[in-house]
Amino acid sequence: MNTANLLHTPEGVRDIYGNEYNKKIAVEEKIHRVFSNRLYRDIQTPTFEYFDVFSSEIGTTSSKELYKFYDDEGNTLVLRPDFTPSVARCAANYFLEGDRPVRLTYQGNTFTHISSLQGKLREVTEMGVELLNDGSVAADAEMISLAVEVLKESGLNDFKICLGNAEYFRGICRQVGVSEATELMLRDLISVKNIYGAETYLAEQKLSAEDKKLLLSVTDFFGGKEVLDEALGIAKDRGSIMAVERLKELSEELIAKDLKQYISFDLGMLSKYNYYTGVIFKAYTFGIGNPIIKGGRYDHLLSYFGKDAPAIGFAIVIDDLLDAIKGQDQAYAKNDKKYLTFALAKGRLASKTMELFEKMGITLEEMKDKDSRKLVFTDKEHGLQFFLAKGPDVPTYVEYGAADIGVVGKDTIVEEDREVFEVMDLGFGKCRMCVCGPKEKEDLLAHREQIRVASKYPRIAKDYFFNKKRQTVDIIKLNGSVELGPIVGLSDFIVDIVETGSTLRENGLDVLEEIMPLSARMIVNPVSMQMESEKIKDIIGKIKELLKEDKE
Ligand code: PRP
Repeated sequence: MNTANLLHTPEGVRDIYGNEYNKKIAVEEKIHRVFSNRLYRDIQTPTFEYFDVFSSEIGTTSSKELYKFYDDEGNTLVLRPDFTPSVARCAANYFLEGDRPVRLTYQGNTFTHISSLQGKLREVTEMGVELLNDGSVAADAEMISLAVEVLKESGLNDFKICLGNAEYFRGICRQVGVSEATELMLRDLISVKNIYGAETYLAEQKLSAEDKKLLLSVTDFFGGKEVLDEALGIAKDRGSIMAVERLKELSEELIAKDLKQYISFDLGMLSKYNYYTGVIFKAYTFGIGNPIIKGGRYDHLLSYFGKDAPAIGFAIVIDDLLDAIKGQDQAYAKNDKKYLTFALAKGRLASKTMELFEKMGITLEEMKDKDSRKLVFTDKEHGLQFFLAKGPDVPTYVEYGAADIGVVGKDTIVEEDREVFEVMDLGFGKCRMCVCGPKEKEDLLAHREQIRVASKYPRIAKDYFFNKKRQTVDIIKLNGSVELGPIVGLSDFIVDIVETGSTLRENGLDVLEEIMPLSARMIVNPVSMQMESEKIKDIIGKIKELLKEDKE
């Protein structure tokens, strides 16, 4: 027996005890009281269900992220990845006889088999509510106000509830006339803000440049109420237009309930759960990369279980909420001022970025001192903070919210594949990602022979050879001076950045194929984008102006 396995839990699950557990119970009790006071009745569904309850038809978690096992009759069972389909199944059986609204609340653990953990848990506690048999805007507003109330009651002060509408993007897809498969693919990519993935995927589709632009434009519509009009401006499909109108009505109701300060909008907010049909929403707070509340309208889900009734609900991830409360309390204790924080890739990209800031009247003399080993620089006057990091770490800092904004090369963004918004091409640091090697070996690239490729960018290399060229290759990860690979016989080719081409020339190598053009990009943490949307939009606007002037 491996005794090491008896001492710690498997990755992604953990023991909770002592003070931490007491706090968790206290928060759960507070939340439950809010739900009970609003007359939501408790319901318990089983921890595992038949696979069909969470199948791809219903549009819940993707099959590879489900924990699956079999009963002795050969049925596939799954540990629940979320509650909504279970509650819908149960409600369709027992509660929906009349047409009166039904209010239900649940609490329990959910399980998702996340392949790359990156600090995320595979088992979390969720509490949530479902309001069934009510398709009105008032029901939408009840959900949002309930979400605000539970977050406030649990002790969280600074948060935003961001509203979108699943029908908006569906309508844009109809307007363009894309296939269902394309729509699903785009939704998967845009829901995690993988804009590059969406661009690359669209590049291979037979659509006009204008249509491609239209499909991607949903990612621009985030911020205050004004984005609703911008979104309406490009929409021709009735479904999209009605989706925005619904959000406008909801916004009026929420303003009347004095909740304006808590809400923002994002029409590019798409859920990986396909069962959502109308308003969708997520609650964000500082310091937590994931939304702490996720919810939305799912008017067709119940029909899978034999009842046709509109419904809306949300779930709170208690573990994330506790993390957020802890972070907030620590920040208050330290009396931390919240600076808008930038992570810059050390070197030329950082210098170029600071040149741009200097033009905006923001100068940090200390950063120009080449001998200094200082890493963090603060501009108290403008409320900004900058730190220098190794390029590949920049997307990591931004994904986790340690930095709100990052400046880094496109190559690193693609290679690191983090959940960050890519908001702007800064235009500098232009170069190309290429397949390079000795000219005389070029033939090997055409023959689909097994070849060896060395690279600092194994993900990009793998994607290019396996998915685009359909060529199986051996990829060897190196950390620098990759040109050595073919010279000393470690590999046949390299996948690397070419800027001036002099490194290649001096080592007798050539560019054989071009993979993609590269340049510096600005990336933003998705939560910061909601929480600090005014400040961030202002900076993006100013930089865009400067870049335009530079071009002219
Ligand atoms: C990069 C890249 C190439 C070189 C290309 O390396 O990996 O080696 O620049 O530039 P050129 O086309 O202008 O010659 P970097 O200087 O970052 O060092 P590394 O090889 O150690 O990664």
